Amino acid sequence: MRVLIVGAGGREHTLAFCVSKSPHAQKVYVSPGNPGMEDVTTTVTGEMSPPELVELVKKEHIELVVIGPEQPLVGGLADILRDEGVSVFGPGREGAKLEGSKAFAKEFMEEFSIPTAKVSFASNLDEARDIARDWNGLPVLKADGLAAGKGVFLPDSLEELESVLMDIFVHRKLGSSGECLLFEERLFGPEISLFMLRNETGFTYLGSARDHKRAYEGDLGPNTGGMGTISPAEELSPEEKVQAQQIMEKTHNGLLSRGIDYRGIIFIGAMRTEDGLKVLEYNVRFGDPETQSLLPRVDDDILLLLKKTAEGGKLPAGVSYRHGAGVCVCIASEGYPLKAASAQKVTLLPRDEGVLLFHAGTKKIDGELMAVGGRVFSLVAFADNVEQARSRVYKNIDNIQFAGMWYRKDI
Ligand code: AMP
Ligand code: GLY
Repeated sequence: MRVLIVGAGGREHTLAFCVSKSPHAQKVYVSPGNPGMEDVTTTVTGEMSPPELVELVKKEHIELVVIGPEQPLVGGLADILRDEGVSVFGPGREGAKLEGSKAFAKEFMEEFSIPTAKVSFASNLDEARDIARDWNGLPVLKADGLAAGKGVFLPDSLEELESVLMDIFVHRKLGSSGECLLFEERLFGPEISLFMLRNETGFTYLGSARDHKRAYEGDLGPNTGGMGTISPAEELSPEEKVQAQQIMEKTHNGLLSRGIDYRGIIFIGAMRTEDGLKVLEYNVRFGDPETQSLLPRVDDDILLLLKKTAEGGKLPAGVSYRHGAGVCVCIASEGYPLKAASAQKVTLLPRDEGVLLFHAGTKKIDGELMAVGGRVFSLVAFADNVEQARSRVYKNIDNIQFAGMWYRKDI
């Protein structure tokens, strides 16, 4: 089978790696891709527009397209490709609203009794100030649209809250993403990411992971795209497992009842509160860096699972795992996430067998591998349990070297 993966980060590198392992993978294309993927795929295409992707798919007889990031999904790339008769893993524009619009996601959760934080909506400064005045305690503020991870605020004082309102409604710092603002009840508890493959026929629970979103050790510092993950996350209690199953079922049935033909992965961001599991958000794609520690653990043929999901075939009741646990540590450039770094030459020394390195912020410049900023690499190790996987990953981390690199030591 000829497959195209859309995206350029550590998540897409992991997808390309897992798909390439399938005996059914004939040729794997990645667009735009990154230099690390050259080891596991046939072709890294570089940046392409949707019409160019359609042309590539036709010319190369690609049978399955897997869309990695949320922006092309929210933009309707899956619909464009499906209209050309291609099988696509990833929801169309309507299903992608579960991530693309937090208001849509909240209304969906309320309609189908999916446990979540209480919410109020404001569309201008006066409404927002009225809600804030009547709010019991401090809310979480969320911009409705995609905001590249910058649309959620957890103000610690009324002054901070007012300054967020000014930024959104007066200084328009989030543009159209901030046209509708959600006030959410602030929940407390550890977070967990749950993954389910889903199409019209049903869903398959793929597993869990726990992200480390803050930049510095001890969960301090600014928010990032995620500095590392463990998979599985800490075990849920028997009651929480029942709740997780109900959340997945209600999500699946909600999509059926709304007539949304959703074929892809649903990433449920949940919080383990004293009142049980509550959904914080839906994502309509694999997590980054959750995928790096989760997907290579799965023993089933990933390509066949993705294809079946995309084609609307009957999904299996569950998956089996080849590794008990995975730990992923992201290695970032100097200044991430606050400022951009200049390109730095990378030296890669040999790693222990089975320890995987996925690229994100790398480029080849004059034939040399360079770190060009952000989260540059994900280093991942697997073992029977999280403790062993963690010690394996940190034992290998000094084999990646570039000036200014840093990582969290407490994943
Ligand atoms: P989201 O993009 O909605 O997942 O929000 C990003 C992060 O903000 C989450 O991973 C949580 O750490 C935090 N967060 C979001 N909603 C809430 C909430 N209602 N209560 C407490 N923390 C929240
Ligand atoms: N690591 C968080 C995300 O992928 O949304």
